Order: sequence, then structure tokens, then C-alpha cells
Amino acid sequence: MDTRPIGVFDSGLGGLTAVRQLRRVLPGEDIVYFGDTGRVPYGSRAHDTIVQYARQDIHFLLEQDVKFIIAACGTVSSTFPPEEAAKLPVPYTGVVGAACRAAVAATRNRRVGLIGTAATIRSGSYAAVIRDMMPDAKITARACPLFVPLVENGYVNDGNPVTRLVIAEYLEEVRAAGVDTLILGCTHYPLLKKMIGDFMGDDVTLIDAGKVTAQAAAAALADLDLLSGRTGGGTARYYVSDTPDNFTQQEQLFLGEYAGGPVERIAIESY
Ligand code: DGL
Repeated sequence: MDTRPIGVFDSGLGGLTAVRQLRRVLPGEDIVYFGDTGRVPYGSRAHDTIVQYARQDIHFLLEQDVKFIIAACGTVSSTFPPEEAAKLPVPYTGVVGAACRAAVAATRNRRVGLIGTAATIRSGSYAAVIRDMMPDAKITARACPLFVPLVENGYVNDGNPVTRLVIAEYLEEVRAAGVDTLILGCTHYPLLKKMIGDFMGDDVTLIDAGKVTAQAAAAALADLDLLSGRTGGGTARYYVSDTPDNFTQQEQLFLGEYAGGPVERIAIESY
């Protein structure tokens, strides 16, 4: 048993989609979240820059004495070197593995769509894991660089004409490929789930990378005997690298019933 908090981070607020699910499945755990709102988006940056940012994010969480780290960011998960992750003093997971397992379990026609940031798609991370599990999978991948700024700026209301147009622009070829499963490979995208689902059609299963990762992390914590042993009363503390105002305005959207909790600004460059 271990009562230290679980550390979760993302380039911005998208990782809160994983926090929401963690709080649902592990109500007795404390959570420390860092959103790098001053440097979002990561997905259009160079590989070295993303690795450097991720190192600082992880360093900050380790200083909060976390027992487990979740990179609730498709971009970091696709970029941070696994050999470096394996050397961290606490267990670490990204979102790629759990999302791919869920997609492979869901697909019937072996046509899987994948959307993510430019860095995620360029890395080929999801495609490699899916092919390991299902070598004959037909994967249609598309980078959607405008989705993160749309979500961070709150363009998520159902039917928003700007967002609807961008969704159609990005997803037309994915839909035309006949996929029956679509991985939302960036943790910001669940905020657009309803509109993406409307565009793709009812028979396409959408995989929420943050949500399935939170479920997998809960199982891993149990296996590693790292759960707190409490069945309720877990708390969440939030840290951001830009003004907390944006977080406070948006948190309801991302966290729903779990919104609330202290938010503090930190200087992530110093980590
Ligand atoms: N939520 C991050 C991800 O999953 C967004 C990346 C970005 O900042 O571009 O990829």
C-alpha cells in the first residue's frame, strides 16, 4: 500500500480527460496534475524540444513525491524515449499501449483509423504497436494539428461551425477508408468526441486514449501493490505553467463532476 499521489501530466488541459477517469475508477487516490499551458502545443515542435519539455514535466512530478507517472499526452507518449522512461525511479506509462490494445480488441474489419498531433503521427508509435498485435491491420493515420488549439480555446460546443468544418477536412479520408475503429490518439480529442462521432457514423468505435490509459494504470497500480487502500476521499491538486485563469474557465469541460481543487502556477523552465 502506498498513499503517495499519482502524477499525471500533459502539454495542456487534455490530460484532464485521463484524470477524470482516474478519479472515477480510483476515488481513494490523490492526484497531482501538471498541464504545461504556457508551452502548449507540443505536437508541432521538434523531437528534442518535446523530450526536453517532458523531462522537466517529469522532474516536477517527481519532486511532488508521486508514486506513478502517467504521460496523459499522445505526443509525449510517442516521443519520450522508452529506455529513459524505464530508468525513472517510479513506474511510468504513456497512452499508446492501452489505446492500441483497446483498438485491436474493438475492430472487426481490421481497418483502424488513428488521429493525433503531427509529432505523434510522424513517430509511427501507434501504428507500430498495432502492427505488433495485428500484423494485417490496415491503418489510416491523419495528423489534426488544429484540434488542440480549438479545444484549448473552448471551440467544443456541439455543432460549432468552425470545428465541424475542420473535422470534415481532417477526417474525410479516414472515413472513406472504411475504418470501424478510430483511435483518438491525443488526450484533447475526447472533447470533440460527439462531433467526431457524428461525422464518422454510429458504427465506428472511438477509442479515448486517456480514458483507457487511466483504466490500465488503475490495474497496474493494483498489480504493483501501489494503491492507497482507501475507497474514497482522494484529492486532486493542479499545476499549470501559465495563468490559472484559463484552467479555471475550462476545467468543468474536462473534469465534469470532478472539477474543483487548488490550481497553482509554476515556473516549469526551472525544473
Ligand atoms: N494532449 C496532447 C496529446 O495528447 C496534446 C499535444 C499538443 O500539445 O500538441 O498529444
